[in-house]
Amino acid sequence: MDVKEAIAARYSCRAYKPDDVDDALIRDCLQCALLAPSACNKQPWKFYVVKGGKKAEIAKHTQLFGANGFTDSAPALIVVTAKPSLVDKAADKIKDQDFSANDLGFAVGHLCLRATELGLGTCIIGWLQANKIAKLLPLTAGEKVRLIVSIGYPADQPRPKKRRSEDEKIVFGERS
Ligand SMILES: Cc1cc2nc3c(=O)[nH]c(=O)nc-3n(C[C@H](O)[C@H](O)[C@H](O)COP(=O)(O)O)c2cc1C
Repeated sequence: MDVKEAIAARYSCRAYKPDDVDDALIRDCLQCALLAPSACNKQPWKFYVVKGGKKAEIAKHTQLFGANGFTDSAPALIVVTAKPSLVDKAADKIKDQDFSANDLGFAVGHLCLRATELGLGTCIIGWLQANKIAKLLPLTAGEKVRLIVSIGYPADQPRPKKRRSEDEKIVFGERS
């Protein structure tokens, strides 16, 4: 599978088989996440792999208002935190940018594409109760829970991609 094939094959997997995913496979995906680019190479991310009872507790904190019930079926959740650097904070203030959020997006993208290549399903989860999840993990000062990625062997099927048209989303400027 090349990169373009992985991009086409990745989808948000919302049903998982009960089979465990070997830690070595999850580590492989996370090693790809760690190779992502980041502003000033600050690498603001950290990844907490949770399984078993802790995973069940964290899953509940993604299910506010009936959302994300599928997290119960995932054998593992990867909690992604960010600790914005001083550069990030300056950029946020001076340039109205959110560098650490951008960085996390790249890293999680790498993770999900490598998982796809390995035959694993993933779903990025942003609907979560960050403060409650933070209390269950050994976070360091300044670290904030930003995203979760569920990971496991898919028990559903990829859906056709629903995307807005290229005409709406891609603009080529003057070339003269
Ligand atoms: C930052 C972010 C947060 C998301 N949060 C959730 C979520 O809480 N629950 C969920 O089921 N999907 C979530 N998604 C998945 C999107 O709904 C999904 O990527 C989008 O509908 C496109 O579908 P696809 O991933 O299957 O191509 C999130 C995706 C991103 C990038």
